[in-house]
Amino acid sequence: MTDAPKHPPLAFSGMQPTNTLHLGNYLGALKNWVPLQAKMACLFCVVDMHALTDDAGYRKPGDVTRSTYEVAAAYIAGGIDPKRSPIFNQSRVPQHAELAWILNCVARVGWLDRMTQFKEKSGKHTERSSVGLYTYPVLMAADILVYKATHVPVGDDQKQHLELARDIAQKFNNDYAVPGYFPLPEPVITGPATRVMSLRDGVKKMSKSDESDNSRINLTDDADAIAQKIRRAKTDPHPLPNNQNEFKGRPEAENLINIYAALSDDTAEKVMRQFAGQQFSTFKNTLAELAVSKLAPITAEMRRLMADRAEIDRILKSGAEKAQSLAEPILADVKKIVGLVG
Ligand code: AMP
Ligand code: TRP
Repeated sequence: MTDAPKHPPLAFSGMQPTNTLHLGNYLGALKNWVPLQAKMACLFCVVDMHALTDDAGYRKPGDVTRSTYEVAAAYIAGGIDPKRSPIFNQSRVPQHAELAWILNCVARVGWLDRMTQFKEKSGKHTERSSVGLYTYPVLMAADILVYKATHVPVGDDQKQHLELARDIAQKFNNDYAVPGYFPLPEPVITGPATRVMSLRDGVKKMSKSDESDNSRINLTDDADAIAQKIRRAKTDPHPLPNNQNEFKGRPEAENLINIYAALSDDTAEKVMRQFAGQQFSTFKNTLAELAVSKLAPITAEMRRLMADRAEIDRILKSGAEKAQSLAEPILADVKKIVGLVG
């Protein structure tokens, strides 16, 4: 391991174009991507091939297309500068899929069997789930490693997938005796809202696939919808807590305070100092105003961008060209390392 190369910092992250993005995607991921751009080179991908693992995407191709534009628009409206950080859709850079195959031959079935997201998504019908859903985390590892990315800013739910990506990278380096060839990518899971919970049930993650639209704030919701959903959010009858210890058994209170903290770039402690002892009805009004003031400009910019698909197309195409120029030589190296001719 003495001659392991040092890898230049590079961040990679992505979101699936399935359904609409919500506050969890924004606070857990996108909002944290923006300041990273000043610290290191970044690539932001719309992982459209991952969206095909979702049954809804498979049945409705038009939804994947529409959502691809929407996710790209959200990246730009949320503060990603496409001139600085390429934005592109995964399927346009074929090296992701090519590396995924090679990594499928490195990853072990036992490793994938432990993935909790697969278990949750496949439910009782494992044998009827797509093979793509099963091998989804290997494609995710390829997304990252095809650029030798070192940092991966994501929400808390992706931690296990990133550990797998590290295991795959390590096994590749060992098996082919290329110490340090792939970096072991670091998860970057930051901020007070790494796991935003449902507004209807504080122990369930806010999710695109929740049946209840009131459980989440969509990035396409207008000001009235945002305010209404917050006012109707489930809470308990007690006043706002004083400190973290009082979160015990009060997941809804914890969630709303964390959302407030993330939106206002404060810590949960500071928010509690400000609101401790107040009634939820008062706090919710202030939170609704804050959420609208932070989200409305993003929503408006998303709408403007989505009305001009040609502009988004130009951005995705140019992003893919830049991404491909980085991935091509790495994949060529990998092919040589594993003995594929040509
Ligand atoms: P997905 O929509 O599943 O492609 O997720 C895109 C990004 O949003 C990933 O980094 C997730 O970890 C993050 N994310 C999704 N749901 C939440 C949530 N409820 N709270 C925090 N982050 C989330
Ligand atoms: N699995 C991620 C999610 O659902 C999306 C994703 C795919 C991703 N490839 C990635 C995130 C690579 C970070 C890096 O949230």
